[in-house]
Amino acid sequence: MSTAEPLFDTFGRLHDNLRISVTDRCNIRCFYCMPETGAEYVDRGEILTFEEIERMVRIAADLGVTKIRLTGGEPLVRKDLHVLIAALNRIPGIRDIALTTNGVLLAEQAQALHDAGLRRLNVHLDTLDRERFKQITRRDDLPRVLAGIEKAQALGFGPIKMNVVAVKNLIEPDIVPMARFGREHGIEIRYIEFMPLDHQSIWDRSRVLLMDTMLEMLRREIGPLEPVPDPDPRAPATEFRFTDGVGGVGFIASVSKPFCLNCNRLRLTSDGKLRYCLFAIDETDVKGLLRAGTLNDEAIAATIRQTVRDKWLGHEINTNRFVPPPRPMHSIGG
Ligand code: 5AD
Ligand code: SF4
Repeated sequence: MSTAEPLFDTFGRLHDNLRISVTDRCNIRCFYCMPETGAEYVDRGEILTFEEIERMVRIAADLGVTKIRLTGGEPLVRKDLHVLIAALNRIPGIRDIALTTNGVLLAEQAQALHDAGLRRLNVHLDTLDRERFKQITRRDDLPRVLAGIEKAQALGFGPIKMNVVAVKNLIEPDIVPMARFGREHGIEIRYIEFMPLDHQSIWDRSRVLLMDTMLEMLRREIGPLEPVPDPDPRAPATEFRFTDGVGGVGFIASVSKPFCLNCNRLRLTSDGKLRYCLFAIDETDVKGLLRAGTLNDEAIAATIRQTVRDKWLGHEINTNRFVPPPRPMHSIGG
């Protein structure tokens, strides 16, 4: 249990949630995240080892971090990820571990992940249409993703959520089928408004499919939706349930309804930089400290504290002051 002063930033937000990108590599190529060819990757020697990640999490847990999410790139391309999960699960104070994956390698790893104690999954899937999946990801892996979801459900993972990136003039035909799939399978679909993180400057406000438009489509095609009272006001999703009692949907409305005021997250990149925001320009190196020796946990804790203190009030996507972050999404981890 944590004995230290909790991680409050200068705006009074408590930070108890650490998102860890375990690799910046990915086995598919979603156009809003990665270029088709020539993605730039961090050198392998720069990637934090499992031991280094574990040490970071121990130190963060001492400062009051209780929730961990593993992201990528695609976290399942990192060899033996289940070994890391089992180790993180043993750290006192860590109460909740979740994984965000594209699902391509899920069927083959689900059993090992489950044995390691993982239960919470977010599977990124935009469409159930094989052609559009190919168009978006430049790979023909939809059957593997669906097999992964099926396997995870059979093993008893839960809650399982699915992430749909809401890009206008593209994803409209998938909004309703995805929600229907979620209703049939007991999975919450989360629509994430397209954010400026592609590093190739393809983002434009006019390409964001907004929450209200999607709600309207779902109400028209499926039926009435009502807001779900929020049990955790710091969770970024705005949730709705269908009034027929069958399932619901969530929205990460980063553009139309920014949730920065409730943010409780810190991020660690695969090459050991701490970030206080998805959109942060500045980041703080901790890899150097991790590699400088085993006796400086205090210095690492102080660096975590400083990063929280440096945190800004929020991103400015909705202003003309907005500057996109210097790293692409696959290297920040979402
Ligand atoms: N905008 C919004 N969401 C994105 N994701 C990836 N790129 C973008 C983007 N440009 C989502 C994916 C991934 C999650 C971490 O972020 O669904 O699973
Ligand atoms: Fe890979 Fe996720 Fe980026 Fe798609 S969004 S290319 S699955 S890291």
